[in-house]
Amino acid sequence: MQIPFLSLKSITAKYFDEIKAAVERVVLSGWYLQGKENETFENNYANYIGLKYCIGVANGLDALIWIVRAYKELGVFNDGDEIIVPANTYIASILAITENNLKPILVEPTFDNLEIDDTKIKERITSKTKGIMIVHLYGRCAYTEKIGALCKKYNLKLIEDNAQAHGCRFGDKRTGSLGDAAGHSFYPGKNLGALGDAGAVTTDNQQLAECIRALANYGSQKKYVFKYCGRNSRLDEIQAAVLDVKLKHLDEDNTCRQKIAAYYYENINNPKITLPTRLGDAQNVYHLFPVFCEQRDDFQQYLKDNGIQTLIHYPIPPHKQECYKDWNGITLPTTEKIHNQELSLPISPVLTLDEAAEVVRVINKY
Ligand SMILES: Cc1ncc(COP(=O)(O)O)c(C=O)c1O
Repeated sequence: MQIPFLSLKSITAKYFDEIKAAVERVVLSGWYLQGKENETFENNYANYIGLKYCIGVANGLDALIWIVRAYKELGVFNDGDEIIVPANTYIASILAITENNLKPILVEPTFDNLEIDDTKIKERITSKTKGIMIVHLYGRCAYTEKIGALCKKYNLKLIEDNAQAHGCRFGDKRTGSLGDAAGHSFYPGKNLGALGDAGAVTTDNQQLAECIRALANYGSQKKYVFKYCGRNSRLDEIQAAVLDVKLKHLDEDNTCRQKIAAYYYENINNPKITLPTRLGDAQNVYHLFPVFCEQRDDFQQYLKDNGIQTLIHYPIPPHKQECYKDWNGITLPTTEKIHNQELSLPISPVLTLDEAAEVVRVINKY
């Protein structure tokens, strides 16, 4: 049995008829940008997340960049201000801060939960701190009441990077609606994935929403009139139409992921393999299923030899990347341990329980 890490082809095939009809509708309409498809998807996604505004943009990195930039345009953030962010995240969360000339303050995660350690945030707050960016990494909810309280107490903006956690919940709210604004990526492999690059910002703040919509459209709110020096960062109509189809199936897809995850949690039983703390299903939409092994590279090769494809998320932490040379000397032990030991097992809405059983069988024999 060969088990791929993720078969995008099979995921698309699952909804092919609906996707085909949506794409055909757009192609035949002759209207490819800033039209009805964007409007429909934006309304439906805003409703799904539970907020008033959704602005479709070109990708998830831009979504985060625009949030920080809009707060600068509105006079809330200034060059040199500090934003607290988890040290173990995909580079995009941090790029969105540095691209805007703000300073990321890297805070360690906990090893068992993998999300930002909320007991280590307060000591990093200074007079320059203007916001906290939480990242719902791997599909796990990173929000805590403590983080919400710190934002209130110190008047900090709470930005969510919801690239990996579409559909995840905290209580009766969805991630992406817990802070002041959230960036979403619809990169094809995400839980809600387009057939190319796509992203969105969600917020309840009308001023922020209008500013972001302008920034992503050359800085313009009125044709040929430019209020900001923006960029072309729009979501196209074909991707919006595809996303609207897939949004209807998102909860069902997440349930498939949760079933696979439950099977892994209940059946992986090998002292050499550590699993992260199991959250309640509502709080984890299992974008990825990370496990940890001291001999990670050997374990990965063993799985490969047995037909199981895995990936590492991520092999090099942001502070050890060449693009952030100034941080290369810093030691962040928990982040580095995660990066040295992490391996992501196959998980997706099209992975079968038989395939999951094979993954477990092979792992338990390691
Ligand atoms: C946590 C996180 N933030 C941001 C992004 C950026 O999204 P995109 O690839 O759509 O630019 C990604 C995904 O790639 C991500 O995983």
